[in-house]
Amino acid sequence: MYEFVTDLTDLTKGYTAEFPDADEPVLRDANGREVLTWQENYPFTERMSRPEYERLKRRLQIELLKLQYWVTETGQRLVILFEGRDAAGKGGTIKRFTEHLDPRGARIVALGKPSERERGEWYFQRYVRELPTAGEIVLFDRSWYNRAVVEHVMGYCTKDEYELFMRQAPDFERMLVDDGVLLVKLWFSVSRNEQRTRFVIRQIDPVRQWKLSPNDIKSLDRWDDYTEAKVAMLRATDTEIAPWTVVKSNDKKRARIEAMRSVLARFDYDDKDLDVVGTPDVRVVGPAATLLE
Ligand code: ADP
Ligand code: MLT
Repeated sequence: MYEFVTDLTDLTKGYTAEFPDADEPVLRDANGREVLTWQENYPFTERMSRPEYERLKRRLQIELLKLQYWVTETGQRLVILFEGRDAAGKGGTIKRFTEHLDPRGARIVALGKPSERERGEWYFQRYVRELPTAGEIVLFDRSWYNRAVVEHVMGYCTKDEYELFMRQAPDFERMLVDDGVLLVKLWFSVSRNEQRTRFVIRQIDPVRQWKLSPNDIKSLDRWDDYTEAKVAMLRATDTEIAPWTVVKSNDKKRARIEAMRSVLARFDYDDKDLDVVGTPDVRVVGPAATLLE
């Protein structure tokens, strides 16, 4: 459908965007046709409607608050890590998760590339510093899994460092879980053409331009490398004590709603409204093995 290019000027050539819904720009190709790449390999032909989304989101956000009270009151430590390709919707989902949470007990951690000092440390060290204390929720926007995917594909780490990570990650997570840390690992899955559409929109939409990094453009040509890295990562780190959950995120609204359900469904917090939490939709969210793109 698209020609694959690595140049930003070419990337947006002929495309125009409209903003009837600030959250969901409509992209048109040179012939004025709406770009509908989100439908690629997606089990729905219609996106979730805005009113339906707003209704569900509000009710689920109330449940997330109850989850937060429970975490605070019982002194839990909750880690939710968000992984996925560039533009998969991690940041947008985290924003909705935390929108109404009490910021005193919930933190977002989005670490940039390691500093000189951090490069001299044990790889996990800077992530360990960010782990929650009792009563806290930490949402990792990217995580230690950088080494298994971005760093590996982009050549930011050596083969030995990569292999060491793949061996250590399950042990590291076992230590966390054995110590009582609640660990949720979400992989946001976007299809190839939809990722590209999102990059085009990022380039056209002034409020999204900051999200477009040089790495994003490079990743267009490295789709297969990323796929390989993802599969190897899941194989090595989808463990019984710390399993991956895949969220099919071509429809961003459905992905956010189902990610919330999936997190809420795992915990037995006070005053849980089972009707609201419902059952995560298996077409959108599920164990890694059942939902690989
Ligand atoms: P974003 O998180 O906004 O998608 P990028 O696509 O630019 O950001 O980068 C992806 C990830 O790769 C980030 O977590 C970033 O910190 C990391 N990264 C970028 N450059 C390096 C580098 N030289 N070494 C290690 N990690 C890097
Ligand atoms: C990503 O997944 O790269 C972004 O966080 C997407 C978003 O901002 O929703």
